[in-house]
Amino acid sequence: MSQVPNTTPQMAPGLVPDGQDNDRPIFIECENLVKIYKVADLEVVALQGLDLLIRQGEMMALVGPSGSGKSTLMNILGGLDFPTAGRIRVGDYNLLEMTRRDQVRYRRHMVGFVWQQTARNLLPYLTALENVELPMALAGFPARERYDRAVELLDRVGLADRMKHRPDRLSGGEQQRVAIAVGMANRPALLLADEPTGEVDSISAEAIFHALRALNEEFGVTVIVVTHDMTVATRVDRVVGMRDGRTSTEILRRREGDVALYEEEYAILDRAGRLQLPEAYIEALDMEDRVRLRLQEDHIGVWPEHNGEEAASRNGQEMTS
Ligand SMILES: Nc1ncnc2c1ncn2[C@@H]1O[C@H](COP(=O)(O)OP(=O)(O)O)[C@@H](O)[C@H]1O
Ligand SMILES: [Mg+2]
Repeated sequence: MSQVPNTTPQMAPGLVPDGQDNDRPIFIECENLVKIYKVADLEVVALQGLDLLIRQGEMMALVGPSGSGKSTLMNILGGLDFPTAGRIRVGDYNLLEMTRRDQVRYRRHMVGFVWQQTARNLLPYLTALENVELPMALAGFPARERYDRAVELLDRVGLADRMKHRPDRLSGGEQQRVAIAVGMANRPALLLADEPTGEVDSISAEAIFHALRALNEEFGVTVIVVTHDMTVATRVDRVVGMRDGRTSTEILRRREGDVALYEEEYAILDRAGRLQLPEAYIEALDMEDRVRLRLQEDHIGVWPEHNGEEAASRNGQEMTS
């Protein structure tokens, strides 16, 4: 019985918009997620009511200014930190109510994590191959299986000829690709990479995205990558923007095979009906403070106040003529 036409997207906030992969099950569900850090007497609200849905097998990029809560979200998704309130589910795991044992199991089998700092990802005295084998050894896989899997993964990330090298003989970008292979060693359903391209040049960054995409396609692993790389939109299925501890905008690419058909920008409509317009749109129309709204049959028009009257009435005439 709503006054709003049915075609208005009645999406849960942060919903994956209608896309080509609509039939895939929802794999990650964050609802009203809150994270508060207490430092001495101060409280820092790093996530303030974040909503996000991610489908199985998606490859998604997370972008946003420094301090917007990207790493906080990644650490929670990685089982490295606990949220303060809200709801968050990854597969069958409710991350708000994990026991210690669940947490260990989750970290070992559900997720792979790649850090920005290359040195943090790898053990310096092990070869690339041994680094990839290590998590499998800890999980108790037999030697032969470990070896075969490690070789396969290093091949997939384009390092077949670097397997016997130790990290100090590899470039920063190559080290990050080894780290991605390490992250995939125990066949996780989710691969998280927090600014994996932050310390490498653009050619290496390209190779890193290529490796992530190859693993996403080969193994169906869901990939979330935090990045400042502005060309990222061409390499992933969806870009989600974060601001002040919430998701703000989304760019969804529809592709057919390797060809991107078109791009659409989405904004998140939160439960209170608030909408954050992309900065570029606001600047393009020189919008300030107040905007003029008009409900149309199947959309809502938004005009800058300074020419709002004129445009709104012109549009109204078109509608009635
Ligand atoms: N361990 C922590 N203790 C206290 N405050 C933190 C901690 N981690 C992050 N923060 C704060 O939370 C906010 C979000 O940080 P972060 O998630 O690292 O953002 P981003 O990765 O987008 O740069 C920032 O204000 C940051 O200072
Ligand atoms: Mg960060």
